[in-house]
Amino acid sequence: MCGIVGYIGEREAIPVLIKGLEHLEYRGYDSAGIACLGARSSKFFVAKEKGKLSELKAQLNGVPSNIHLGIGHTRWATHGQPSRANAHPHLGQNGVIALVHNGIIENYAELRAELERHGHKFKSQTDTEVAAHLVERYYHGNLQEAIQKAIQRMTGFFAFVVISRDDPSRLFACKRSNPLVVGVGHGENFIASDISALLPYTKQVIYLEDDELIELRCDAVTVFDLQTGTRIKKSVSRINWNVEKAQKGGYKHFMLKEIYEQPEVVRNTLEARVKKGKIVFDSLTQKWIHRLKQIDKIHFVSCGTAYHAGLVGNYMLGESLRLPSEATVSSEFRYEDPAVDEDDLVVLITQSGETADTLAALREAKARGALTLAIVNVVGSTIAREADAVLYTHAGPEIGVASTKAYLAQLMIIALFSIFIGEIHPARKKDFTQAKARTLLKELSRLPRQIEETLRDEKRVEVCARALREKKNFIYLGRGYNYPTALEGALKLKEITYAHAHGYAAGEMKHGPIALIDQTQPVICIAPSTSKTYEKMVSNIEEIRARKGIVISVTTRGDENVRSLSKYTFSIPETQEMLSPILAVVPLQLLAYKIAVLNQRDVDQPRNLAKSVTVE
Ligand code: G6P
Repeated sequence: MCGIVGYIGEREAIPVLIKGLEHLEYRGYDSAGIACLGARSSKFFVAKEKGKLSELKAQLNGVPSNIHLGIGHTRWATHGQPSRANAHPHLGQNGVIALVHNGIIENYAELRAELERHGHKFKSQTDTEVAAHLVERYYHGNLQEAIQKAIQRMTGFFAFVVISRDDPSRLFACKRSNPLVVGVGHGENFIASDISALLPYTKQVIYLEDDELIELRCDAVTVFDLQTGTRIKKSVSRINWNVEKAQKGGYKHFMLKEIYEQPEVVRNTLEARVKKGKIVFDSLTQKWIHRLKQIDKIHFVSCGTAYHAGLVGNYMLGESLRLPSEATVSSEFRYEDPAVDEDDLVVLITQSGETADTLAALREAKARGALTLAIVNVVGSTIAREADAVLYTHAGPEIGVASTKAYLAQLMIIALFSIFIGEIHPARKKDFTQAKARTLLKELSRLPRQIEETLRDEKRVEVCARALREKKNFIYLGRGYNYPTALEGALKLKEITYAHAHGYAAGEMKHGPIALIDQTQPVICIAPSTSKTYEKMVSNIEEIRARKGIVISVTTRGDENVRSLSKYTFSIPETQEMLSPILAVVPLQLLAYKIAVLNQRDVDQPRNLAKSVTVE
């Protein structure tokens, strides 16, 4: 998804912008560009290229120096193909204004037609170029005013950073829905769509809210209301992510590093949330908890991998506590006229905290009076700020586009939250006792080691991956708590290997997928022995064997029965069924990773995918 960087200060701007853009690469992009202005130049220096940043950098040999103002962008195509012409920054008709943009201007076609009637000529197919022309049309020496007037004409959502060739001493930015963060330095200031781009330079940040307009100078940051132009007082926050954390740390890919960080992530979650055998959610106020006790239904709403976390949550609450719950993908929830009101809790699960559909679902839920809770990884993200309460997953920055450690962190928080509800909610299942809560907490505390043990199977997974690397179709089967694991295993494989994979509730096999099974068909069966549907999974495995399918099983260590029925087996340590998805997904992450590497896929930035999907 698109990334924005802006810089003003004493350093050479171009290397600062390039480094910032490198830190945003993980978001996924198809082209990149920069526009800069020298102290004495009357023209922007612009470089843009399709493809990776290395293509852009190749154009920058021998570029002018003494440039201290600039904007940069990584683009993920929405309007128009990935191409140099469509890459940002875009300039106005006479090259007076340059801007970068994240988001979508919904009425760009009519604005473009209007500008064309006034003689404007466009070089790209983008909505962003229309915005550049519009700002320039309203520009008569006062950039702030021009931006305000142009914004009034646009519908949609955006984050803009704008510079004028008339004034190398400042940069303007504004936002509605799409994120922007200011990085505050000494004698220099930064702006970016994502904290990662600021990390090499500063830890002091100012989070911007919708409809704010920002003026950045070397030595000052001023924030205004976008509509009225009145000054707004903002506070500076300190972030504690460091650059090293966002580096690969010796692993070949970010994804592998993140898979191996999972024991630590789970350990950190437990350390932060379980104190003296009690679950502690500091961020939940008494008032919020009071309302929680009156809730009679819980909705998990999320996208992609986070949706699978919601499905697991649905089993945790429904089965363990007997509280009515439902898991829905955000893009359905927001348009289905959801039946929620003040008696419902809507839990938004999102790694980035910026996913457009999940944000819209949150706003929909709030508009209907529901109590909302965000389970988010990125601190200060829009969804984290807008929900009534937030539980951070604190998994650290996740760079690989395919989510791994953030998923485990989400499952951990949901498990803890389920126990927490079990302890306080008057309508919980009768047998959810303190003793049961204690047992679950004890089992949770064993998970970090158990994940480490599971990761030791990497070689075994590699053997299986070598055998299956050329397969084009995979079936994943699971039941109950591990039906979502089947979906997540299939999603991981699709995302990074580009093979087709389909996750099914195993009981559905006989209603269709069984027709696919022959001696060439790999079927991954998730069958932990602590599951109450274990016998049923064994029957499914027998049915696959009877049709000569290739059985790959995930089962509990020591289960010789399933091992003997399988061609390949990945074993996980024994745990309560409710917690088994936290272990069972790990070998499936590794399997997808290994097959992707063997097929030389771009593991961390798979084609067509974006880390943070901030458009619909
Ligand atoms: C994209 C990512 C997925 C992620 C999904 C939801 O599709 O590629 O990895 O699961 O968005 O993102 P969120 O940030 O809301 O968890």
